[in-house]
Amino acid sequence: MTFLTKSTLVLLAALGTTAIALRAADVTENFEANCASCHGKDGKGETKAGRKAKVKDFTDKAYQAKFSDADAMKAMKEGMKDEAGKERMKSYTDKLNEEEMKALVAQIRSFAK
Ligand code: HEC
Repeated sequence: MTFLTKSTLVLLAALGTTAIALRAADVTENFEANCASCHGKDGKGETKAGRKAKVKDFTDKAYQAKFSDADAMKAMKEGMKDEAGKERMKSYTDKLNEEEMKALVAQIRSFAK
């Protein structure tokens, strides 16, 4: 009985660690696949497309303070347009679900730490 309980715990712990590792990889993968072309793998936006789109530096705390988590969710859901209505960033509702978007907000926040 004791053996069973212990091995169950060990198994659960192992499964838990794997789940966490998978989640973290998913966020990074989502960011690199959808966002890094403009925002850069490091969030600085120093890519060709990033310079063209005039993205700002996610490692800059002052910039991060200018948008809320809700603004970030809105940007991913509705995209961003300039004053003339020209698209600067597209909507990602066809690629990412609510959960994935929330994880991306946390990923973006982590660039400025
Ligand atoms: C085509 C280039 C491009 C891609 C790809 C892109 N963005 Fe953006 N993003 C922009 C631009 C441009 C801005 C606006 C910068 C500014 O404030 O002037 C922006 C702004 C943002 C903001 C700030 C929102 C606000 O309210 O100020 C967030 C958060 C963001 N992007 C997240 C993402 C995430 C997450 C992805 C991937 C799912 C992504 N972006 C992909 C171009 C891009």
